[in-house]
Order: sequence, then C-alpha cells, then structure tokens
Amino acid sequence: MTTILRGNILHTPAFGRLETAPGGFLILEDGVIEGVFERLPERYAACPVTDYGGALILPSFADMHLHAPQYAMMSMGMDLPLLDWLDTYTFRTEARYEDTDFAREVYRQLARDLLAWGTTRVVMFASRHTDATLILMEELERAGVTGLVGKVNMDRNGGPAQETTEDSIRETLRWLENCHFEHIKPIITPRFTPSCTDGLMAELGKIARERNLPVQSHLSENTGEIAWVKELHPDCGQYWETYKKYGLWKDGALMAHCVHSDRREQEAMAEAGVWAVHCAASNLNLCSGTAPVREMIDRGLRVALGSDVAGGETLSMAHMTAMTIRASKLKQMETGAPFFTVPEALYLGTAAGHRYFGAKGGFQPGDALHAVVVDDSDMPASAKELSLAERLERILYNMERKHIKAVYSEGRLVHRA
Ligand code: GUN
Ligand code: FE
Repeated sequence: MTTILRGNILHTPAFGRLETAPGGFLILEDGVIEGVFERLPERYAACPVTDYGGALILPSFADMHLHAPQYAMMSMGMDLPLLDWLDTYTFRTEARYEDTDFAREVYRQLARDLLAWGTTRVVMFASRHTDATLILMEELERAGVTGLVGKVNMDRNGGPAQETTEDSIRETLRWLENCHFEHIKPIITPRFTPSCTDGLMAELGKIARERNLPVQSHLSENTGEIAWVKELHPDCGQYWETYKKYGLWKDGALMAHCVHSDRREQEAMAEAGVWAVHCAASNLNLCSGTAPVREMIDRGLRVALGSDVAGGETLSMAHMTAMTIRASKLKQMETGAPFFTVPEALYLGTAAGHRYFGAKGGFQPGDALHAVVVDDSDMPASAKELSLAERLERILYNMERKHIKAVYSEGRLVHRA
C-alpha cells in the first residue's frame, strides 16, 4: 500500500548534514520509505496524500538510555551526586516494582508519553523484577514503541533493590524464555560494575555470548564511581576492562555516560564497536561532568543520545538535543573542542539511534518510517521569514508535547494529537 505524507521535511542523512524539502512529499510503500520528493512524481498522482500543511516532518527521536522504573521519580531528588542519589532515592523506588499493578500503571503511561514526546525507539533499563520487566515490554509493544529492554541485574550494593546471584541468573533465564515480542527485544543489563559480583558478571557474559544478545551498562559516569570500581577490580587498569574481563565488552554494547572516558578508554570502545550513549541533562543534574563527545566522534566512536530518566528530568529528546549543544559549549570553554551545531545534535538524537537498529538514518529509502509531525504555528511572529533550518532550531529549543501532532513508528501511525 502506498502512503504519501506532505509537509516541510527535514532530516539528517549524515552527521551534521541537514537536508530539507519545503512542502515536500515523503512516499512510503507498506510503511517503508521510497523517497523524499520536492514534487510529487507523476506515477503517484492518483494516490491520496496526507497533507500536514505548514508543519515540520522530522525523523522521530531515539532515546538510547533511560530507566523505566525511575519514571515514577522523574524531576525529583536531584540534590545528590550519583552514588548517594542511587542509595537515597533510586533503589528504594525500583524496589516498588515487585508490585505488578504499580508497574503496569507506570509503564502504560510511560509508553504513551514516549510517543507523545516523539520517541519511537528506546533502549531501556527496567528493574531487577522479571514480571515487571515483561509488563514493560508488553506495554511498549502495545503502544508502538520499538527497541530493547533489559531486566536489571544487581546482586550487591543495591539495598532493597538487589537480588541474590542465583536469583539474578535464574530470573534472567526465565525472563529470556518469556520475551516473545515483535518490536521489543531483550538486552543483557548488568547495572554497573559496583552492582554485580564477579560471578554474576561472568554468567551474564556467557548468556550474552551463547544467545548472541546485546549488552548495556554504565561506564565512567562519575569520579566517585570510578574510584570505587578501581577498588573492586584492582587488577583492571580502567573501568571498561571490568566489562571486558567477563565478555561484556563487545560490538554493539551500549555504555551510558562515558563522561570521564580518556583517550585509552575511548580507543577501546572504538576498537570493540562499543557505543557511547551521551546523557547531557543527567550528567549536569547529578554533577557528573561534561562528556568529551566531540573527541569521541573524532576518534570514530559511535555516539547516540539518552535521557537517562530519572537522572535526566524529562522524556523530551528535543530537550536532550538542545542540552547536548549546551553541554558541548561548556566543554568548549574547558577544552576548546568545537560545540555541536543544530544539524549535528539532531543527527545524534535521531539518525544515530536509528542506525544502531540497522536503519540508514534520516529519511532514506528502505528504512521503515520513524517520524514526527511538529506544528510550530504557535511560535511568536518573527522579524523575517524563517528558513526551515531556523524553524528547526527554534522548535528544538522549545518543543512541548502539544507541538507533536502525529508520530509514525515502524511505518505505522502510532500517535495523534
Ligand atoms: N549507575 C548505576 N545505576 C544508575 C542509574 O540508575 N542512573 C545513573 N545515571 N547511573 C547509574
Ligand atoms: Fe543510567
């Protein structure tokens, strides 16, 4: 079936390269992109067109790192640095997901809200609870969100949120047996090195290898955390080696934060094909620091963005792209590394994440459509006629849910406002 969307089309098919088609046509066959056209090709003249008028049509956002159970504590308790924040607020909140009714309520709203904010691809941490994790996956699938979800593994230093090593392994296997979703797949999730005993890490590495599953965790987020990891693994020169030691350092692994990753750690990532997930808002909220993202990209590392809710205070990935630019300006003041342009940050918040999932990114032929339709008509009158690039910058800094009029995920319309 042919679908044609009309509007002001903007996308970044490559890092930093913005392409626009004012009043253009986005043509799909069975939800898969045929192409972006400035004028409707003759052969489609008889097909109906969904006309979004003056609205902007952008690729949807990909949130490559967030903690689903922490949605219940979003925008609260950011008066402490990472390790105290985990002990004081986070682990207590996550312990609540033993209660599957509570999990259902939070996760159903989260799935809907992600789409309302224009996010259609996610990589998430759940809590340690198998049943609640399956509920999360079910709610995401039902809403039309796609991506990866991990049952969290944590058998030490987790207070009320932790599990025994045996339970952690057994429940991980039970969870994997029950993951039968089309668009939401499992990812092995050791919370971070301080949360996992050596025995658990080894077992998770084995499961990931035997079942060919991706891995996600946290890396070099905070100086206190890094010192603790050093104490726990005195034989490892650097934090990343604690994952490598157990087979968890591999192609496609996603490491959140990497705020303090130096040249050696970055080179180890680039060499292994490990991705860095940059969480600009969280890094400031939890006093972690400003990540050397430009440096990572220059070294050939693959980088995408995450909200890290509830380290980050909102699900809005438009906000995260703007925060990425701001954080890069702080970094520029520190090191001189050039800050990110709007097209660079848009690429990181959209195409980079889609590429992780095997898409080409941007609106390129052959990709299933992941798109948002953004109505910026309530923005103030401007002193001159604005280009599409200017309107893009303005709405990235101002985007609210009310601006997002339609969302397409995996070729389907999944949200309308
Ligand atoms: N490191 C280990 N757990 C967490 C978490 O929940 N949030 C963040 N930001 N860092 C972590
Ligand atoms: Fe995190």
